[in-house]
Amino acid sequence: MVRLDRFRRKTPEPRAARAAGAERSWLVFLILSKPDATGYYRRMTSHASVARFTRRQFLQTTVLAGAAAPFVVPAGLHGASANSKLNHACIGVGGMGWNDLNSFLQHPRLQIVALCDVDANHLAKASQAVPGARCYSDWRELLAQEGDRIDSVNVSVPDHMHFAIAHSAIEKGKHVYCQKPLCHDVAEVRALTEASIKKGVITQLGTQMAAGIGDRTTVQWLRTGVVGKIKHAYLCSNRPGAVETYRLLGPRPASGQSPPASLNWELWTGTAPMRPFAPDIYHPTKWRAWQDFGTGWSGDIGCHIFDATWKGLGLKPALTVQAEVQSSWEKSPARRADTWPQANHITWTFPGNDLIAGSGLTVEWFDGEFYPPKDIRALYSLEDYPPESAMLIGTEGALLYQLGRSPTLLPEAKFEKLERPKFEPRDHYHHFVDACLGLTKTESFFAQTGPMTESILLGTVAIRLPGQKLEWNHEPMKVTNLADANKFLRRKYRQGWSTGGF
Ligand SMILES: NC(=O)c1ccc[n+]([C@@H]2O[C@H](COP(=O)([O-])OP(=O)(O)OC[C@H]3O[C@@H](n4cnc5c(N)ncnc54)[C@H](O)[C@@H]3O)[C@@H](O)[C@H]2O)c1
Repeated sequence: MVRLDRFRRKTPEPRAARAAGAERSWLVFLILSKPDATGYYRRMTSHASVARFTRRQFLQTTVLAGAAAPFVVPAGLHGASANSKLNHACIGVGGMGWNDLNSFLQHPRLQIVALCDVDANHLAKASQAVPGARCYSDWRELLAQEGDRIDSVNVSVPDHMHFAIAHSAIEKGKHVYCQKPLCHDVAEVRALTEASIKKGVITQLGTQMAAGIGDRTTVQWLRTGVVGKIKHAYLCSNRPGAVETYRLLGPRPASGQSPPASLNWELWTGTAPMRPFAPDIYHPTKWRAWQDFGTGWSGDIGCHIFDATWKGLGLKPALTVQAEVQSSWEKSPARRADTWPQANHITWTFPGNDLIAGSGLTVEWFDGEFYPPKDIRALYSLEDYPPESAMLIGTEGALLYQLGRSPTLLPEAKFEKLERPKFEPRDHYHHFVDACLGLTKTESFFAQTGPMTESILLGTVAIRLPGQKLEWNHEPMKVTNLADANKFLRRKYRQGWSTGGF
């Protein structure tokens, strides 16, 4: 356990702040939190997709949810009384983890009892927000020491460590909120999903926008066929500034340097191959650029953009996937060995169903320099084409989903009289907590979001083999027409870091 007494002396009055906060907007922390490299997500979280609740509204919502849903007492909380609290540990408390911590902190029936981060500065800041929480730099120690003192964890660390931490927590019967994408590799997603089902724990993928009214409206409109049967889907993430901020070109510096004293680089690297430390290219945030740690642009943003389409159309695992990538990356052996391309165009085919026109659905993804076709973008003439969106072309019109906003039906004139569905506001984090307390069920649980994440990560396999159409057989988890592709379905963990069969 890490001692942080020296930081605690500076702690303001957290209890008073918390009590006052209870009567204010639930997400005031998010609004006040300082924007940083991932500030985009925080803004999306704070004002677009996550409802703000007063304490009274929140309690009413959870009571109603409790009345409507069958009472499910989750594993690990048997015998919990109506007033009992969920004892929670936050693993990864900087970056998005700071956002996650503050969101959990606002739930009246959750108490954060343990914190973990490999960066002592991030841990110190979190410890100030949650005085009294036990602090760790090693998540393995946290899980071993905390034992029955915790019911749940959130995993908000770089992608390459999601599986090891989430799987270890599930094996100990803990409920898990895991950041997107669920894991770094397809095989990890499969194993984590299966473990969550076997253990019967409550899970939620960190796609907080899924709780927003815009996403839920999209799901409902697709399920009810408002624009007819869907013929084709165009998904994109062309966010301005993302290339410069996140999508580094490489190469790595020829030699490394000592990490700062505040950072435990061995623990940060974890299951991935050990790389010499270098500042400003890995920790924090920039790890996304590297194949060892991140999952490429589609892995990073895909779960957010794909989720409403996947749920709304009830998609099943992909049948084929093919990628076209930035040509400078394709021609550079050095970049291909280490980094992700700065631009990708991925095409999947999915099996058909009653909501899909024809025998199957083609879904295309565009990022970086690849954009949805002009005639598709021209369907939306009200503003600039939304950079992070999904355009679903139906037999009776089109639905434009915009990340964190309400969807638009096109042509607008045809649908202007259509009433929007009404939903109770919901907070994705609190929905998870309520589910752990037996009051409701999560909707982005791993058995639901795992197959979607697998398909998205298959896209990253296709990126490594540009121009080749991969045929996928879901059950045996195999690319059937190109044996070489299967080596990208799982990584070899670094010696000493073997976890859950990896
Ligand atoms: N849902 C969203 O909108 C959203 C937004 C941003 C990031 N994310 C996801 O959150 C995760 C973290 O991304 P980020 O941008 O915050 O990264 P980051 O590098 O900014 O922050 C990661 C934090 O985890 C800590 N950490 C790293 N390895 C750790 C380990 N082994 N044990 C404990 N702590 C560890 C780091 O010190 C840091 O505090 C990623 O999976 C990312 O995809 C989700």
